[in-house]
Amino acid sequence: MPYTELLAPIKSFLHCETPDAWVKEAIQPENFSMLLLDHLVCELKAAQSAMYLIRKYAIDKESGDALLALLQPFERFIYKREGDWRELVVKNKLTKSVIPKSNTPYGQDLIDKMVLLIKEELHHFYQVLEMMDHYGVEYKSITPSRYAKGMFKHVITHEPDTLIDKLICGAYIEARSCERFAKIAPHVDKRLGDFYISLLRSEARHYQDYLALAQSISPVDISARIEYFGKVEAALILTSDSNFKFHSGVPTENDDDPI
Ligand SMILES: [Fe+2]
Ligand SMILES: [Fe+2]
Repeated sequence: MPYTELLAPIKSFLHCETPDAWVKEAIQPENFSMLLLDHLVCELKAAQSAMYLIRKYAIDKESGDALLALLQPFERFIYKREGDWRELVVKNKLTKSVIPKSNTPYGQDLIDKMVLLIKEELHHFYQVLEMMDHYGVEYKSITPSRYAKGMFKHVITHEPDTLIDKLICGAYIEARSCERFAKIAPHVDKRLGDFYISLLRSEARHYQDYLALAQSISPVDISARIEYFGKVEAALILTSDSNFKFHSGVPTENDDDPI
């Protein structure tokens, strides 16, 4: 497989593989819409989290507000169901040139990595909408998964540890997404499978960018913290979870959010 090499560091970073029971559930026809809808929301959330990090840690409020406005058409579509999704392709206008330089030591690195990441996540968001259109899946709101929250609640509440922990969580979310896309790609319709495989390269880079940023910001070695979140993440993946989503745990009989 051409992507085996890409996945090798991800598999050793993650503390567990996705259980077969999740894969089996994910490819059930009744979960087809849910998986696409949750994927769509995850792409927006990835962009939002990266935007939050830039605004909080690397630029002033005024610039942050201007930047935030760029996300609004995407957020309005998801939270208020406003706008035509086809028009979102031209709204992805974020460039490094719109971002002011930061005076924090790691600010520019954070900006450079996160701007690219946001652009890519918004592009993925649009691509998921294209898939939904192709497969006739209508947008509807869904309940959030326990996954990200389950990790973020372990984030230390004083700086710079808060930022470092959040970046480590970001790395795990990206790495798990990458691993799951590879897991389900061979079992779905070719067009969708090819799309999942096309996402692997950027998600693998996102995981590395988050980790590299975390280590460059921390004055001390972060291996113990990476290890800690690896255990937290694996527990969320390996314990039972009735709310089937892209990042959910081992499926149980009662899916409380059917479509
Ligand atoms: Fe993405
Ligand atoms: Fe990503």
